[in-house]
Amino acid sequence: MELEHPDPLRAGHRRRILITGAGGQLGRALQQEFVADDLVALTHTDWDVADPPSNSLLQGGFDLVLHAAAWTDVDGAEADPQGAAAVNVAGTASVASLGAPLVAFSTDYVFDGRKREPYVESDGVNPVSAYGRTKLHGEAVAGSDAWIVRSSWLFGATGHNFVRTMLRLGAERDEVAVVDDQRGCPTYVGHLAHAVRELVDADRPRGVWHLAAEGDCTWADFAEAVFAEAGVDCRVRRVSTEELGRSAPRPAYAVLRSERADAPALPHWRDGLRECLAAMGR
Ligand SMILES: NC(=O)c1ccc[n+]([C@@H]2O[C@H](COP(=O)([O-])OP(=O)(O)OC[C@H]3O[C@@H](n4cnc5c(N)ncnc54)[C@H](OP(=O)(O)O)[C@@H]3O)[C@@H](O)[C@H]2O)c1
Repeated sequence: MELEHPDPLRAGHRRRILITGAGGQLGRALQQEFVADDLVALTHTDWDVADPPSNSLLQGGFDLVLHAAAWTDVDGAEADPQGAAAVNVAGTASVASLGAPLVAFSTDYVFDGRKREPYVESDGVNPVSAYGRTKLHGEAVAGSDAWIVRSSWLFGATGHNFVRTMLRLGAERDEVAVVDDQRGCPTYVGHLAHAVRELVDADRPRGVWHLAAEGDCTWADFAEAVFAEAGVDCRVRRVSTEELGRSAPRPAYAVLRSERADAPALPHWRDGLRECLAAMGR
């Protein structure tokens, strides 16, 4: 018997999907991963999410919204917390008001980093930066009916990220100073996008999901891996967070794991790094 109203989230069905932040590194990966669907991929120029959702591009309704737009300048948020909140809180509320099933992306920076074993979904939050506070508030306004996907240390072949910065610095210098007292899970955006598709295609329960790469390392370990994998002759000088003197505090320990039995598993960060470099033609 045919269903009169087929479930729009069912895998294989051509869904109408809105992607916000489509020009960002995750937004681009989501467009590749959901290529079989009918995508409305909006960049910052197309729709500023801090504006009301009256934009003509938003008409027609959506089966799913993948909300990847965000203020991601962690140090900039310390200087302008209201600007960050306008995007990460008011913007997320605006996206949620569209009323479609929603995936809202969040971060390991909702934790204070005092734990010494992986953070799971039920752990208490306590952001130490303005960025982390706006993302946590953004989780709340996304609503209880959203998938809140927390991930960590994202990198991809495009946009602003650590891998691209290291490759640029490594080509210019013999040595770079990199923080060695912050530990996290560098996550390739292609792997995160794939895990998100698993989550929505299987219509897993709404709520918080930790989706980050397997394995963990410090930024200095990650930099050394970038140089080794890309064949760049540059030394890494391991420094402390204090020595580097960034304006926003960051959690010293930000390893995310899922305590949910049916959570999609992501590949190891080293595999993500190799895929990213291959996508960059390195
Ligand atoms: N990057 C990380 O390490 C990391 C880690 C954990 C979680 N996350 C979360 O993952 C999601 C995706 O991050 P990402 O790394 O892909 O960031 P990204 O590369 O900085 O992309 C964010 C995109 O949002 C756009 N944007 C900014 N303000 C906007 C606004 N008011 N209206 C519409 N679009 C706006 C940006 O456009 P412009 O550049 O043109 O302003 C950019 O294209 C975010 O929710 C982020 O908080 C990121």
